[in-house]
Amino acid sequence: MKLRDADRVGVLGVTGSGKSHFVKHRLVKRSRRCVVWDVHSEYAEPCDMDEVSLDELTREPGLLQAGECKLAVVPEWDDPRELATAFTMFVSELKDSAQSESLLVVVDECGLLRPIADGSLVALAAQSRHWLMPLALVGQRATMLPPGARAQLSTIVSFRQTDPSDIDALAERLGAVRAQRITELKNHRFVTWSQNEKAKEEPEK
Ligand SMILES: Nc1ncnc2c1ncn2[C@@H]1O[C@H](COP(=O)(O)OP(=O)(O)OP(=O)(O)O)[C@@H](O)[C@H]1O
Ligand SMILES: [Mg+2]
Repeated sequence: MKLRDADRVGVLGVTGSGKSHFVKHRLVKRSRRCVVWDVHSEYAEPCDMDEVSLDELTREPGLLQAGECKLAVVPEWDDPRELATAFTMFVSELKDSAQSESLLVVVDECGLLRPIADGSLVALAAQSRHWLMPLALVGQRATMLPPGARAQLSTIVSFRQTDPSDIDALAERLGAVRAQRITELKNHRFVTWSQNEKAKEEPEK
């Protein structure tokens, strides 16, 4: 999947359905410049990235401006408030480092940031295009993205979701029939939808 600067993709689905695997292999590995908000410290090794703490990133903001930037940012946190504060600092670093070369930004486990960091998530989704930062927001449920960020998605990649509130939220974009099929997907299978093309299902390999 090739993302343009204006793209904001939501990668959604229940735990273990294959979201992070998709992001690693279809987005991160294919980008020359990428930074991942990597709460579980799971991206550096498979994606050949440098793992840094948020402290290291704030001390050396030039890291985000390197031509071959490949960074997994692993926050240190004990409680959700601390994590949300760290995320707000991360978004501020992104804003300050915006430059003329595209940088793919991945935020894994968006659900952990709610509700305290909703404002930062919405701001990122609303501003990423201006910062030349194609964006991937990853979460276990559609309703785990704040509505203001969900509304900004130009592309949705949905693995299985079953809760009626999530299916309703998806139906607003994909249509009711397609959204209903998401309840029956096997692990590692997904449906895509984009603003510019009709929804389609990943063909069988
Ligand atoms: N297409 C695939 N082919 C083979 N293995 C896969 C595929 N997708 C996912 N897996 C494997 O399934 C497991 C769960 O996948 P993954 O970590 O991507 O789940 P997830 O949706 O990110 O879950 P969580 O929300 O808990 O983070 C991993 O061990 C991963 O390597
Ligand atoms: Mg994951």
